[in-house]
Amino acid sequence: MDSRIGLETVGVQAPAGLFEVVMKSVIYYFTGTGNSLAAAKKVAASLGDTEIVPIAAFRDATGEISPDAERVGIACPVYFSGLPAMAASFAERLDLAKADYVFSIVTHGGGGGSAALRQLDGILKDKARRGLDAGFAVSMPGNYILMYASPAGEKRDRLLAAADADLEAIAGRIRQGERVTLPNSPVARLVKAIMYPRFRSRVQGEDRKFTVSEKCTSCGTCAAACPAGNIEMVGGRPVWNHRCELCCGCIHLCPVEAIQAGKATEGRQRYRNPDLTVADMEAQARTEPHEKNQVTGPADGS
Ligand SMILES: Cc1cc2nc3c(=O)[nH]c(=O)nc-3n(C[C@H](O)[C@H](O)[C@H](O)COP(=O)(O)O)c2cc1C
Ligand code: SF4
Ligand code: SF4
Repeated sequence: MDSRIGLETVGVQAPAGLFEVVMKSVIYYFTGTGNSLAAAKKVAASLGDTEIVPIAAFRDATGEISPDAERVGIACPVYFSGLPAMAASFAERLDLAKADYVFSIVTHGGGGGSAALRQLDGILKDKARRGLDAGFAVSMPGNYILMYASPAGEKRDRLLAAADADLEAIAGRIRQGERVTLPNSPVARLVKAIMYPRFRSRVQGEDRKFTVSEKCTSCGTCAAACPAGNIEMVGGRPVWNHRCELCCGCIHLCPVEAIQAGKATEGRQRYRNPDLTVADMEAQARTEPHEKNQVTGPADGS
């Protein structure tokens, strides 16, 4: 682990095949419950010479983001068949002039990955004048606890084992620099067209549904892990400040299940990707931009 906060360097050398070139890579990630970070880590371990950088590290600044790497990846969850708001804003700021190969891995609980990848491709083509060379959607345990309980036990383990196999194959394709046509689904496009604009227009205030119960032990995990910096501890209790991404991390990561979003979430299965610790989840919320992936241009609009 690199000593710089929020940044991890995976130093495992990739097994280079005849047509494989070991390139310097960076994977930017956004995660609520760890699936997308776990996916980024697995691919990074296979690629070698890869930095893993939280998208949240850039949230409080403005200006272009110039990755110092030949191969650039973006890993994040699918929200309402589209991108998390923070990932979309991040993509709009990327300067990919130096990148030889750009890929994305989106994780989802059942569908919509193709529409999210196409959204990202469109943003990059528009803002960075080059789209994705490859995009992959990986099915993992769903975490939208406001609507359903996350899978547990054998079902969860089966899903994660299948995701691991998918990620291994995906890493091989990325190592070989394969150009991959993005998946396309008219159903996902339709669902996105109906659901996503509403999600984006309301997302920041969705935390108004959140409450904290007497079970709270004032441990501060929810505040420390929030990728949006949206939670303040006041009098030993979390207070939400309406800059929410709806990642559901605070609800899932609370060790005593003290956070609810109405009656529906009471007793619902919580989830954290089992390959990650709470400390991993807290690391993305610290916001020092990485020195090699400098933010350039005007800071904070000045
Ligand atoms: C607000 C929200 C919306 C979601 N929308 C979708 C969706 O449209 N399709 C889907 O398959 N999964 C959806 N999910 C599930 C996540 O995409 C999935 O669990 C993902 O792997 C979580 O990644 P993370 O652990 O990195 O946060 C949604 C989750 C949240 C919190
Ligand atoms: S307040 Fe909770 S749901 Fe909203 S961004 Fe922070 S951790 Fe995610
Ligand atoms: S994570 Fe749970 S117990 Fe800890 S401060 Fe937040 S609400 Fe309280």
